[in-house]
Amino acid sequence: MSEEIIVINPATREEIGKVQKDSQDDIEKKIDLADETFKSFKKLTAYERADLLFKWADKIDKNKEEIAELVTKEGGKPLTEALGEVDYANSYIRYYAEEAKRIYGRTVPSSKENNRIVVTRHPIGVVAAITPWNFPVAMMARKAAPAVAAGNTFIVKPASATPLSAMKFIDLALEAGFDKGVIQYVNASGKDAGEIFTKSDKIMKLTFTGSTAVGKKLMSDASVTVKNVTMELGGHAPLIVHKDADIDKAVEGTIASKFRNSGQTCVCANRLYVHEDVLEEYTEKLTAKVKELKMGNGMEDGVKIGPLIDEDGYDKVMNQLEDAISKGAKVETGGQGNKEAGYFIEPTVLSNVSDDMLCMKEETFGPLAPIQSYSNLDEAVAKANGTEFGLAAYYFTENYATGVYLTDVLDFGVLGWNNGAPSAANIPFGGLKESGVGREGAIEGLEPYTETKVTSINL
Ligand code: SIN
Repeated sequence: MSEEIIVINPATREEIGKVQKDSQDDIEKKIDLADETFKSFKKLTAYERADLLFKWADKIDKNKEEIAELVTKEGGKPLTEALGEVDYANSYIRYYAEEAKRIYGRTVPSSKENNRIVVTRHPIGVVAAITPWNFPVAMMARKAAPAVAAGNTFIVKPASATPLSAMKFIDLALEAGFDKGVIQYVNASGKDAGEIFTKSDKIMKLTFTGSTAVGKKLMSDASVTVKNVTMELGGHAPLIVHKDADIDKAVEGTIASKFRNSGQTCVCANRLYVHEDVLEEYTEKLTAKVKELKMGNGMEDGVKIGPLIDEDGYDKVMNQLEDAISKGAKVETGGQGNKEAGYFIEPTVLSNVSDDMLCMKEETFGPLAPIQSYSNLDEAVAKANGTEFGLAAYYFTENYATGVYLTDVLDFGVLGWNNGAPSAANIPFGGLKESGVGREGAIEGLEPYTETKVTSINL
């Protein structure tokens, strides 16, 4: 008898569905189908691929509410955020439908007589993806859309906590007219799928969003068959509020960055560094706004903070919270957790925070906003950069020179200057250092799904 994956609603801890696990044999058959389908799919014109992507996006629009409800029920995020996620996902599909038509090559002036050099770009083959539970449809679309736009076939393993929305999304691709072997999913543990994908010599590229620890293992395993990889890994984003910031803008940006998906994004502000001149005003205003955030089941009206995904996620945040309080942090608001009915932690602001606290050293993935003050900007920059992560950083300043300086010295791939929500389909999203390899979104997100060939022609 085949095994099942039980899907739990983190707001109620109730079972909301089951999906059948694919065996190794099932997964290998799907890889074979993707490999076989690639032979015909790559012959479609860019305009035909674009047309299919646009049709898929239209189907998603028509089924937006149903998909968003699945996202909320299996992942916990408030329904308004889930609806926003479906739009965000679809923006990648439409963006890459347009870009499919602009996969240009070039000619290179030759140093020899009667010689012409032509550079062309081609699909790679079968692309495998492993996607996270925090954006089950958007992260999948961010990988599937450029892969397919470039003429590859695609096979994804959605997170085991949130397979239902991803499966629905892919069913709609088939309804839109894609052949069965072009876009497929497999349900398995991350470990099993990772092993099968990395070992397969039919899979030419592996793209992953998740933790740095798992990313390192996948990169190492993928090296055996020298796969092209894209890795979107962990973050530990600093947010700097300088003395010349517009404090209302800074508070708004902090809420947007820190409390999106209850703090469960790789780009969530994790550590807040605030200049001592504006510390009191910022802390008071932020605390007042955070008190207004309603916590509860994401299906209820007005809820802004849903549950954490599971018990491990809950325990990690509670451990950071308790550690900070035991080392002298002051709870400005929040601070309580409850996992009886679902995995809920109040949106929390901590002041009087020091470097030795876990929340300043580790990614939190929860609604915890720890504030530390600084007197000298270079001191804040040194702390901000003092991590192996380099995904996102935020800074608030009305001074152009200060903003440009911070852009230059902060070692992070995604920078939000007076902006707590920079993510979009048309930005190259990705991290420096141990936060990843490659970029997703924008034109930079398409190139890794193509191979370059050069033809040197003697005339
Ligand atoms: C992530 O958390 O991995 C991605 C968030 C985003 O796209 O903004």
